[in-house]
Amino acid sequence: NWTTGNILEEQVQRIREQVGDARVICGLSGGVDSAVAAALVQRAVGDQLTCVFVDHGLLREGEAEQVERDFVAATGVRLYVANEQRRFLDALAGVSDPETKRKIIGREFIRAFEEAERAIISEAAADGESIRFLVQGTLYPDVVESGGGEGASNIKSHHNVGGLPEDLQFELVEPLRALFKDEVRAVGAQLGLPAEIVGRQPFPGPGLGIRIVGEVTEERLALLRTADAIARAELTAAGLDNEVWQMPVVLLADVRSVGVQGDGRTYGHPIVLRPVSSEDAMTADWSRLPYDLLARISNRITNEVDGVNRVVLDVTSKPPGTIEWE
Ligand code: XMP
Repeated sequence: NWTTGNILEEQVQRIREQVGDARVICGLSGGVDSAVAAALVQRAVGDQLTCVFVDHGLLREGEAEQVERDFVAATGVRLYVANEQRRFLDALAGVSDPETKRKIIGREFIRAFEEAERAIISEAAADGESIRFLVQGTLYPDVVESGGGEGASNIKSHHNVGGLPEDLQFELVEPLRALFKDEVRAVGAQLGLPAEIVGRQPFPGPGLGIRIVGEVTEERLALLRTADAIARAELTAAGLDNEVWQMPVVLLADVRSVGVQGDGRTYGHPIVLRPVSSEDAMTADWSRLPYDLLARISNRITNEVDGVNRVVLDVTSKPPGTIEWE
């Protein structure tokens, strides 16, 4: 009988068996998966866990604060924050290819953890210990889509599965590897995580880096962040958060179209809205959002976001489209 309580107890037991009395490090991405994975490991081994939040600068508006404030308040976990915005921008400079971007972000993420580990290790060393384990919030669909399952095809290299460097020095702890998203949320609720964290819509590990079609720059990130914040705020104001699985907002940075605004001609970038409904992200359909909501989002984005003169709606199911554009 596969109940939430069973999953929780079984995973706690497994984590204890795998980890013993060694020290563990866990990266928090801002998403549900890593939060639940961290909370599970904390339940299992308590103080042996140190959480690391690598701020890669690819998060949406307010997300860094949500990790640093809300998650810590809910769990009391020990958190180390690494401000690595510059590292990721530099590594991504000049890169447009989606798979290359994913691999770079995955690689830099692990390297940033290794550096964070070195910073934390002196503290552990005081007790004669080292940090041997790395927790990852890998879900079952991530495993399947990265070719981890028997006969699975390699569709996209997922950030928390593919692109790991060969010199990886940690052993992985992946307590969510057999679970789907709805089970992860149930486990999170069971662990006492607040609704804002557990009910959070999925957000990919590589963040806004794979929602800019084209090269990732600081300026483009700022633009996309503003557009995304508007779209999310309007969706929430319309009371439709629970109607959509997630709503990626994508900047087509390599595309420009002609428009007219105020006194003159514009030549700006399109923003794509990708609201989808789904059970588990393996398949999805585009959400039939009300026209007046779409109109409000479009008006606000074109009026408030400099450089964007067009908003388009993605009406593709998965398959054949994936949820993310890269
Ligand atoms: P796709 O685009 O493959 O996305 O239809 C399926 C689900 O996975 C999320 N996603 C990711 N999550 N690391 C993650 O943790 C990643 O690299 C990644 N890529 C996509 C996506 O947002 C959707 O929910």
